[in-house]
Amino acid sequence: MIDFPVDLIRFLTKAQRVVVLTGAGVSQESGLRTFRDAQEGLWAKYDPMDLASPEAFARDPKLVWDWYAWRREAVKGVRPNAGHYALAEMESMFPMFTLVTQNVDGLHRMAGNKTVHELHGNILRVRCSQCGTFTEIWGDDSEHVPQCQLCNGLLRPDVVWFGESLPLAELEAAVIAVRSCDIFFSIGTSGVVQPAASLASAARSVGSVVVEINAEATPLTQQADFSLLGKSGSVLPALITAVKSVVQNR
Ligand code: OAD
Repeated sequence: MIDFPVDLIRFLTKAQRVVVLTGAGVSQESGLRTFRDAQEGLWAKYDPMDLASPEAFARDPKLVWDWYAWRREAVKGVRPNAGHYALAEMESMFPMFTLVTQNVDGLHRMAGNKTVHELHGNILRVRCSQCGTFTEIWGDDSEHVPQCQLCNGLLRPDVVWFGESLPLAELEAAVIAVRSCDIFFSIGTSGVVQPAASLASAARSVGSVVVEINAEATPLTQQADFSLLGKSGSVLPALITAVKSVVQNR
């Protein structure tokens, strides 16, 4: 049983417009690795500039393709966890609910969320690095990066690499939702990658209540109105139960 601040529950029972930003921590309990956790984080083992940048792909496309193929298989092998399902339930609890995610694993949609903006793309999608055409079928020989059937360009994952722009429509939708939200949640993200990280301060600047849920303190913790320390797979379902019990007892 978690004791939530009374004020937070009160805000949530009145909230009309809720925005949630998620990061890799939300998928950690599904069995996917985060990026910056000291022991298990992907960036503790690999240098992002060797694997997640246009320069890396130009230098060694096969290395980059194989690394994403390995991560794609990991994603295909996991299911949403209790935190994802709680966020799907939250979508039906508020008149307007927008989920903005840095995750590329597609687990929010799999859990049932409908309004999802994937700021960093989706690892399950593949597109041509030259002409941009999406493809769902490609031959995987162990020697070469698969090529586009239309222009022979090399295929790549439809994710955002360091130095690349975010998908404009997704980012704009996120910013518009944040500008009018009552409550902004930052969940399972270290909050160090821009522009996603600046959404919390954008929410603060329009006067919304900022709530952080994270297993550890982050740069946002001190500025958040409420900081709930713990795993999202435990904290989110408990938070929903707490809100519902207040609503039912009215
Ligand atoms: P990080 O790995 O930077 O941060 C994950 C956060 O989740 C940390 O603050 C952890 O404390 C927290 N965490 C871990 N397990 C948790 C759990 N079960 N419940 C709640 N919190 C938990 O991942 P992101 O913030 O998502 O970008 O990283 C942002 C971006 O940096 C990624 O989208 C990726 C990466 O480079 C690109 O590849 C472009």
